[in-house]
Amino acid sequence: MKPIVKAFFDEQTNTVSYVVREPDGTACALIDSVLDFDHAAGRTDTRSADKMIAWVKAEGLRVEWILESHVHADHLSAAPYLQEHLGGKIGIGANITLVQDTFGKVFNEGTEFQRDGSQFDALFNEGDSFHIGQLRGDVLHTPGHTPACLTYVIGDAAFVGDTLFMPDFGTARCDFPGGSSEALFQSIQKILTLPHETRIFVGHDYKAPGRDDYAWETTVGEQKALNIHIGQGRPIEDFVAMRDARDATLSMPRLILPSLQVNMRAGQMPDADTDGNVYLKVPINKL
Ligand SMILES: [Fe+2]
Repeated sequence: MKPIVKAFFDEQTNTVSYVVREPDGTACALIDSVLDFDHAAGRTDTRSADKMIAWVKAEGLRVEWILESHVHADHLSAAPYLQEHLGGKIGIGANITLVQDTFGKVFNEGTEFQRDGSQFDALFNEGDSFHIGQLRGDVLHTPGHTPACLTYVIGDAAFVGDTLFMPDFGTARCDFPGGSSEALFQSIQKILTLPHETRIFVGHDYKAPGRDDYAWETTVGEQKALNIHIGQGRPIEDFVAMRDARDATLSMPRLILPSLQVNMRAGQMPDADTDGNVYLKVPINKL
């Protein structure tokens, strides 16, 4: 079954969010949503999420799932806001517990911050499946960018999060805590065992040099032939050397500190401080 896929692109964070719906029905899932955040002002905005909500309502859709491919480090998730307005269950990879453990320490979270993934409604493992109305979703564990990264294969469409990007841009970085270029290579091989014509929807786009427009949809066949980092059967040693060298030159994403603190809580802000206001931390010299 071929789902209908609607993409929403956020130019502020280069994130692609998706609504995946039944071809002949009203069930849908939302993948990798964005809560707008002005870091300098410490102010959130729901403009991006409101666009998605308006579209879902206009189409008369029923949200069954709000899925995260991983704990994003470059944008805040709008999952709780979307759930409040549209319903649906929030799902992420079971290895979220590793990410919560790592960043619970980085941000010196107290015991009130649970590291068991209980902030989410569903924790997925490799081989799990779920339904969006008549559509079936299958879960691939695709670590490397982070230890909890998942690929959701829904009908003939694979939502790969931050593993592969468009063929002319390559692959995701592997230098965050718990990341591994060897693991990413293996995860990508797993994605590339899907049928050639499988549609691949990527989690970000940054316009590769020479390309004027944003793009987010490709296929397994195109990735195998053309991906500048792993195409043409590139061996793992070459990929790992290239990826690690490149990652050593990258600076941290602009929103990494707020993103991690919010996204490891399934998109919820930390509890309010004693004055009733919410604060995010900036750990000094820890990342
Ligand atoms: Fe990411």
